[in-house]
Amino acid sequence: MRINALILKALRDSKGVSGAELSREIGISRTAIWARINDLRALGYDIEASPHHGYRLLHSPPDVLHADDLLVRVGKRHFFAWDIRVFEEASSTNDLLARMAQEGAREGTVIFAETQSRGRGRLGREWTSHSRKGLWFSVLLRPDLRPQSATRLTITAAVALVRAINLQTQNNVKIKWPNDIFFGGKKVAGILTEINGELDRINYAIIGVGIDVNQTREEFSPELRTSATSLQIAADREIRRADLAVAVLSELDQACKRTYSGQFDAVAKEWSSYCSTLGQRVSIRQGERNITGIADSIDSEGALLVCTEDGRLETVVGGDVIFEK
Ligand code: BTN
Repeated sequence: MRINALILKALRDSKGVSGAELSREIGISRTAIWARINDLRALGYDIEASPHHGYRLLHSPPDVLHADDLLVRVGKRHFFAWDIRVFEEASSTNDLLARMAQEGAREGTVIFAETQSRGRGRLGREWTSHSRKGLWFSVLLRPDLRPQSATRLTITAAVALVRAINLQTQNNVKIKWPNDIFFGGKKVAGILTEINGELDRINYAIIGVGIDVNQTREEFSPELRTSATSLQIAADREIRRADLAVAVLSELDQACKRTYSGQFDAVAKEWSSYCSTLGQRVSIRQGERNITGIADSIDSEGALLVCTEDGRLETVVGGDVIFEK
C-alpha cells in the first residue's frame, strides 16, 4: 500500500495517532509523516494535530476522488489486489488502461479520470464526461474465459453497479439489456466492455463504466436531457462520488468472485431480477436485421433470447433495444 494510503488507514482506524506511532508503523521519519499530513491537508483532508491526541482525521474532503483513500476504503477483505489510480484528465480511461494492460498491468488495476476528452460509449458513440460530476473509470480483468463469454463480464459488472447505486442512493435503478442502467425511463449509467484475446482465450478485458452522478438537469445538453439523468436528480440530493466509487468497487469485487468461481448462473439470475427488458415486447437492430418479439431470458453466455412472432427463440448478442408498445 502507498504511504498516504497507510497514513489515511491509520487515521481512519483510530481516534488519534501520534507522529511517533505513525513513523514506527510505516517506517519513515516523523518529519516525512508531517510532510505527508500536509499533502493530505492540501487535498482537503481536515487533520487536527494536537499534543494530546496526535493526528486526528476530522473530515474527508467533500467530493474528491483520491486514489489512496479509495484503496483504504475498499478494504482488505477483497478478491482482487486493487491498484487504483486517479487522473485529472484522460482521453478515454478504456484506452489508457488498454495501453497499461499491454505493458503488463495486473488484474484489478482501476483508472478513474475526473474528465475525459474522448470518452466512448457502445457502438462508437461519444460519451460525455462532465468534469467531477460523474464516475468515469475502467477496470482491468484477466479472466479465464473464452471471448464468446465476455458478455458474462458485462452482466457481472451490471449487477455490481445496480447493487452499489441502490445501496448508496436508496433508489431502484434497473438494467436495460445489455448494459444500460436506467432510472425512471432515463439512462443513468453505461458499461463498455472491450476485450483483447485470441480465438479461444481472453488476454484481458476492460470494463469501462460511466455513471452520471451529480449533474443538474441543465448541465445535460438539450439532446441528452430527454434520455439521460443523474443520480442527484433521481435521489434529489448530492451524492458523494467517493462513497459510490468505494461501493461499486466493493460490489464488483464480490460479483467477479462469484463469476470466477463458477457461480455465474446465480449472478445471471440476480441480473434478471433487475432487468426491465425481460417480458417486454422489443425490437432490436442488429446491423441490417431487425429482430422483433418478446424478450424471454438470457442464456448462459449472457445473450438475450427473444421469442419471435413465429415462435422461434432468436439469440441476440448485441444491438440497441427499443421497447415496443
Ligand atoms: C455506453 O452506455 O454506451 C457505455 C458508456 C461507457 C462510458 C465509460 S466512461 C469510462 C470509460 N471510458 C470510456 O471511454 N468509456 C467508458
